[in-house]
Order: sequence, then structure tokens, then C-alpha cells
Amino acid sequence: MLSRLLLATTNRGKIRELVRLFEGSGVELLLPERELDVEEKGGSFFENAYLKAKAYYEAFRMPTLGEDSGLVVPALEGYPGIYSSRFYSLEWGGVEPLEGSRDRANIRKLLRLMEGLQDRKAYFLTCAVVCLDNAGLWAEGRCYGEVLREPRGEGGFGYDPIFQPEGYTKSMAELRPEEKDLLSHRGKAIRRLLELLKMLK
Ligand code: IMP
Repeated sequence: MLSRLLLATTNRGKIRELVRLFEGSGVELLLPERELDVEEKGGSFFENAYLKAKAYYEAFRMPTLGEDSGLVVPALEGYPGIYSSRFYSLEWGGVEPLEGSRDRANIRKLLRLMEGLQDRKAYFLTCAVVCLDNAGLWAEGRCYGEVLREPRGEGGFGYDPIFQPEGYTKSMAELRPEEKDLLSHRGKAIRRLLELLKMLK
């Protein structure tokens, strides 16, 4: 199995989780020495993950892991979806002023759009793509649950304070990091990816 993978991301929340998920796998994760400005112009999580992995692969010429993820709310036509990180700034649903962090602005906008909505079902999705010299691999993971009516908890990042996984009474931000890893979209995608990587000679 390959021993080193370059991470095609600089999102600190993601990096923290990815480092945990690769612990003990025998694969060392490397962080890029500079950030590339990759335009996420794909129409799906897969395309965006692939664009990131490919851009870093071409710049650094080593095996690379690209990851794209987000929160899908069927009652909102699938938004925030692939626009999760910059949802607050989209015209769709009205621009939310950036007061405080992006995460907080995204959460305010989502709660505003879901005010009074009974159907609060949602899922997180991660698509992880690995670019190698002569091959590519990809894996997807999902975590189903619902959108809460107000934020709860301090852990995690992004939409975690307003997402409650199915079968739980805590928000994702109230779970311990190891608990989140067990049930999260990212945990599922990376565990599958590691299985695939093990099959490589
Ligand atoms: P990306 O960098 O384009 O993949 O954007 C991912 C965005 O989706 C993040 O900025 C978060 O807003 C959201 N997101 C992805 N994964 C998670 C998670 O595990 N918890 C909460 N929010 C997440």
C-alpha cells in the first residue's frame, strides 16, 4: 500500500478529522506547503473532489487526496449541497451578511430558510478522491439525520451544531471526536478508501 498522501485541502476542521481517521493506517498525511486556488466549478461532490486532487497532484507530483463534502437538505432542493462552504454568499435564498465566521453565517442562513419547515431531514456527504501516478480511486460516505432549530455544542466545525444524526439525541457538535468519526460521512468515506488502497499492490 502507498505510504504517503498529500492532502488537497487547507480547511482546518477537515484536516483535524482526516488526520484522526488515518491514524494507525500506515499512511502518512502530508499538508501542502502552499495553498492552490482551485476553482470548485464542478456540478457534483465527486467532480469537485477530483478537481482538487488533480490540481494538487499536478502541482506537487505525488499521490494526493482530494475531499469535497457538504450538507444536503432535500426540502431545500438539495442546498446547501456543493455550495455548503459559501452558502451564506449565494444569491439563492438571499445573501446573509458575514458577521462572525463563515460557519456562523451559513448556519444563520440555513435556519432562516428552514423556519417553520416540518421536513427537516438532511444528510452530510463526503466524496474522497485519490490521484495516483497510474490510477484513481474514490469513495463516498453519508450520514443521515435532521436539521435542529437552533445550534447546540462546541465541537466539530461547519454545520455540526445544527445537525442531529439519526438515532442520536445530541447534535454532531456535542459528540466526542471519536463518536463523530464512527458515524460521520467523512469517517465512512475514508474507511472505504483505506480498504481500496489496501487492494493496491
Ligand atoms: P468544501 O471545502 O467545499 O468541501 O466545503 C465543505 C463545507 O461543508 C464546510 O465548509 C462545511 O460548511 C460543510 N461540512 C463539510 N463537512 C462537514 C462536517 O463534518 N461537519 C459540518 N459541516 C461540514
